[in-house]
Amino acid sequence: MTNLVFAAQPGILMSTLLMGCMCFLLPSRSCQTAALTPLQIQDNIPSVYQTFTDYFPIGAAIWRGDITGPHSDLLKKHFNSITTENDMKWKSIEPAEGAFDFAAADALVAFAKADHMRIRGHTLLWHKQNPAWLFKDANGRDMQPTAENKVLLLKRLENHIRAVVSHYKDDVYAWDVVNEVIDPKEPDGFRRTRWFLITGTNYIDTAFRTAHKIAPNAKLYINDYDTTDPAKRTFLYNLVRDLKSRGVPINGVGHQMHSNIGYPSADAIVETVNMFSGLGMDNQITELDISIYKDSTSSYRDVPEEILVQQGYRYRDLFQAFRKLKGKISAVTFWGEADDHTWLKKFPIQRLDLPLLFDEQLQAKPAYWGVVEPSRLPAPASSKPAGIVR
Ligand code: GLA
Repeated sequence: MTNLVFAAQPGILMSTLLMGCMCFLLPSRSCQTAALTPLQIQDNIPSVYQTFTDYFPIGAAIWRGDITGPHSDLLKKHFNSITTENDMKWKSIEPAEGAFDFAAADALVAFAKADHMRIRGHTLLWHKQNPAWLFKDANGRDMQPTAENKVLLLKRLENHIRAVVSHYKDDVYAWDVVNEVIDPKEPDGFRRTRWFLITGTNYIDTAFRTAHKIAPNAKLYINDYDTTDPAKRTFLYNLVRDLKSRGVPINGVGHQMHSNIGYPSADAIVETVNMFSGLGMDNQITELDISIYKDSTSSYRDVPEEILVQQGYRYRDLFQAFRKLKGKISAVTFWGEADDHTWLKKFPIQRLDLPLLFDEQLQAKPAYWGVVEPSRLPAPASSKPAGIVR
């Protein structure tokens, strides 16, 4: 795996190979020392965001580990936009009612501002990562769907959005206002969250209207995964059309785009973005990553090189589609900066997954070349990869 990462840089390839031989010949202590060499980013490769200056900003979802040391070097070199991975979610920012804690998100925002990066806000409303108090009624019991609780919950939503959007009014240019409200398994397409069960679809209107009232210049998005799935996409399309026709202030659709090496197809992405664009909506790719697995059970002990090359070609195909959609996609954000920190190591099971452009040592992978300069990708393997363990 490591060798391939450097395939386009002969000097580094040679030293990597030498290191490999030494590790084989020398006692393990030497190899441990080698492993402890401080991380350093590659200075001599093109910046990802500069490659796309004529298209869209390139973002990364970040946490506090990304804003110091070599991680911050990598971020500054390759990305010109950030999303806070978790620090703007309800549980982090309003852990107790009316008691806001902006410290963690503020640190990330300050870093981004100092480097003139754009900032996406994520997310004002979701059914996960919420504090327990949010869905307790006035007597501290689990909220039941009553008229009284509907008023209470919508008031809490309004208070939350007012406070958070005001706080970041001068910094955040785009908000994921509601996240994952569609569930194609429901006959009406609405996910049965407590938001829905208690307020119907009113929470969606309230969220957009409140955000717009506080930050009329911010771009407001409805964000979801699997937006290329035809059934889900139709529900989402109908909802967006309805919001628009009723004058609810929505600017665009956030396509999370958590993908894998086989799904979704580039054609499906083009079709989907064109569909929403036809409704007058902007589109942003908000949480891009490409898992090396096509299922939720497989697991590699060592990831075969050909899989990383395959991933490189997938990234190439996706970015070719994004380029083709110039003017219809206004941002592309990766869900993380490098493979050492990714949610996919725990989801859907604990396993080694390597979904991003940079490896665990912050070095460029074939995925990087697939995005930046596909002609430098190694030839794809024709045979089926070995090494999968279950
Ligand atoms: C969803 C959310 C993100 C993040 C990812 C993976 O896509 O929108 O905030 O939590 O899941 O963890």
